[in-house]
Amino acid sequence: ASVIQRLWRGHVSADMLSPRLQRAMKNYMYANKHHVSYKRRHRAALSAKELLCQMKAQARLRTVDGWEQPFSSLGWARLVPPLPLEELYRQQDGSSFKTCAVVTSAGAILHSGLGKEIDMHDAVLRFNAAPTEGYERDVGNKTTIRIINSQILANPNHHFNTSSIYKNVTLVAWDPAPYTVNLQKWYESPDYNLFGPYVEHRKLHPGQPFYILHPSYIWQLWDVIQGNTQETIQPNPPSSGFMGIVLMMALCEQVHVYEYIPSTRQTDLCHYHERYYDAACTLGAYHPLLYEKSLIQRINMGPESDLRRKGRVTLPGFSTVDC
Ligand code: C5P
Repeated sequence: ASVIQRLWRGHVSADMLSPRLQRAMKNYMYANKHHVSYKRRHRAALSAKELLCQMKAQARLRTVDGWEQPFSSLGWARLVPPLPLEELYRQQDGSSFKTCAVVTSAGAILHSGLGKEIDMHDAVLRFNAAPTEGYERDVGNKTTIRIINSQILANPNHHFNTSSIYKNVTLVAWDPAPYTVNLQKWYESPDYNLFGPYVEHRKLHPGQPFYILHPSYIWQLWDVIQGNTQETIQPNPPSSGFMGIVLMMALCEQVHVYEYIPSTRQTDLCHYHERYYDAACTLGAYHPLLYEKSLIQRINMGPESDLRRKGRVTLPGFSTVDC
C-alpha cells in the first residue's frame, strides 16, 4: 500500500518514507536539539475513546500568562490579553464554537472547491503565512484564529507588522523551548526571537487577542504522540497543524480538519500558495508529522470517503467527550 493509503488506515512506519526523508529524520534524532528525554514507552494500543480522553486530560490548552519568571518581572501579566484564550469566545452555555474548520496549507487543497464548505463553520483556523486572497474557491476566506511560528514574527520577509493576513484575527504564536520547559533559557535563546516583536505588537494593538503557546503545552502534545506510537519519533515539537487541531478541539464542539491526512489530490506541492515541492511538508522531517497524522486518523470519526474526496477528518470537541 502507498504511504497515503496506510495513513488512511492509521498504520504508519518510518520505513515507508524515502531514503532521503529517513536520513533527515535520523539526523534530527542524533541532534536532539531540544534535549528531549524518551521516558514514556509505548504500552498497549488505546481505543479511539481512550485516546481522546488521554488527550483531553493531558493536553490542557495553556498559553503564557505572564505570572512566571522571567515574564513576571518583565511586566507580562499586564501585557498579555486580559482573557485567557479558552475564555475569549466562551458562550453562556459554556462552549465556544459549535463547528470549526482547521485548514492546513497543503498543496492538495488546490482545486478542491472546498471554500464554501469551510466558510460555513463558526470558526476557521489557518496557519502561518497561508493567504485566502486569490484562493477563496478552494480554502474559503474566513479566518478566526491564525497559528504562527516564531519565524513569522522574527523574519522581516513575512511583513508581520503590515500584512493584512495578521489583522482582525486572533493570533497564537509558538516557539520551541527546551524539553525541560526552562522558561529562562527559552527567553534567552528562542529558536527565532519572537519575544521582542510580541511585546511591540501587544503595545501597538492591545485590542487584538494575541497569545503565545506555553512550551509545556507543546511538549505535552509531543508526549501524547510518542506515548501512543511504537516507533521513536523525532525529538522536535509537533507541527503547527497538530497544535491547531488540538487547540480547536478545546474550543469547539466539532472540528473538521482539511488536507492534513491527504485526499486523492495528494501532491508533493508543499503549500497551495507557493511553487515549492517537497514530500517532507506532507510526511515530515523535522516534525513528527507522519506519527501526528496517524494519531489523528485513529480518532477520526468521519468516513473514508470524506478522506478521499475532501481530505477531511471529523473530530469531537473535548467538551462532548465523556471520560
Ligand atoms: O508549512 P506550515 O507549517 O505553515 O503548514 C501548516 C500545517 O499544515 C503544517 O504544520 C502541517 O501540519 C500541515 N501541512 C501538511 N501538509 C503539507 C503542508 C502543511 O500536512 N503539505
